[in-house]
Amino acid sequence: MDKKNLVVVGYGGMGGGYHVAKAIEKEVVNLLGIYDIDPKKAELARSRGIYAYNSLEEVLNDDRVDIVTVAIPNDVHLDTVVRCLEAGKNVICEKPVAMSSDEFAKMVETANKNNKVFSVHQNRRWDVDFLGMKQIYNSGEIGRVFNIESRIHGSRGIPSDWRGEKEHGGGMFLDWGVHLIDQILQIYKGRKITKIYCKFIHTTNFEVDDGYKLYIYFEDGSEAYVETGTFNFIAMPRFYMQGDKGTALITDWREKAKVTVCKHWHESEVVPVQTGAGLTKTMAPRDSITVDEYEVDRPTGDVYDYYRNFCDVIDGKAELIVTHEEAMRVMKVMEAAFKSDELGQVVDFVE
Ligand SMILES: NC(=O)c1ccc[n+]([C@@H]2O[C@H](COP(=O)([O-])OP(=O)(O)OC[C@H]3O[C@@H](n4cnc5c(N)ncnc54)[C@H](O)[C@@H]3O)[C@@H](O)[C@H]2O)c1
Repeated sequence: MDKKNLVVVGYGGMGGGYHVAKAIEKEVVNLLGIYDIDPKKAELARSRGIYAYNSLEEVLNDDRVDIVTVAIPNDVHLDTVVRCLEAGKNVICEKPVAMSSDEFAKMVETANKNNKVFSVHQNRRWDVDFLGMKQIYNSGEIGRVFNIESRIHGSRGIPSDWRGEKEHGGGMFLDWGVHLIDQILQIYKGRKITKIYCKFIHTTNFEVDDGYKLYIYFEDGSEAYVETGTFNFIAMPRFYMQGDKGTALITDWREKAKVTVCKHWHESEVVPVQTGAGLTKTMAPRDSITVDEYEVDRPTGDVYDYYRNFCDVIDGKAELIVTHEEAMRVMKVMEAAFKSDELGQVVDFVE
């Protein structure tokens, strides 16, 4: 089968730095060129030997184009995605795919009407820390999981570009929340959400959030906590997962998961420990007789499987890895979170 011809719309950080660079490196698709509204970006591409289309119309009128990847600011995804689908192109759109679930529904409807493949670039499904947690969850080794905490902590504030502007879909919740929520829903597959609570952080940015704290509550009593912070000069662990038989922890993206599994609930004798100004048996650390402690090797994954899958779907050989239903559920959780922050209270989530 011939390689699919790709055009990347938006030659910025993600369009140029990832989609174009990887298309050249991986040789799974054939890069025809880029289109960027900024003539300087077009010039930059040309100086690197990459063909730069002069307009989106030129891309749409080019019959050779099989796939358009849309990597432009969030508020302009809708218009470009819809135009590409209507012109008969298959479309990959960067996350967050849209500014609302209504916008996303319109994209899906256009894809279906034109019989084109359309998917959201949820590339962080290939993050090895997430894959490690998912593997431990699925193995059952820590028992029934009732709490997952997922944090991304940085200390550089938010970028000073469109990410600081509300009208362009800025803010850390839209930027990072979309990945971390998607990961949580992939781990807790099949659990029904009932409630959402979210609070945006505004340390120095008041137009958009520069961090957030989100709780997702599930019907079976389990929960997830998702947080992004940009003023964390000391970062908290990336992942923390509790089951009724053990706990798993990933301190940092670069680290292996640490797992502690309880093998004997009762110790023969718990020695009280001094904590601060008091003594406690309840909080005394466990000894090695009652727990197994080990590290889990990081799973491997190739994020370019996303593109391989997309090409296979066009050829009718596979189903999309990132489905419309999953992307819509993430959009709905995000909308509920915006509402919760606005109201300052927990909101119901109906599925
Ligand atoms: N999946 C990921 O890991 C990841 C990482 C970073 C960014 N993103 C997403 O990628 C998208 C782009 O982010 P970025 O960091 O590359 O932004 P960026 O500002 O670095 O680049 C955006 C580019 O789009 C161009 N542009 C703006 N409007 C356009 C239009 N209507 N038509 C054509 N070009 C247009 C700009 O000139 C700029 O070159 C966003 O949706 C962002 O959330 C995803």
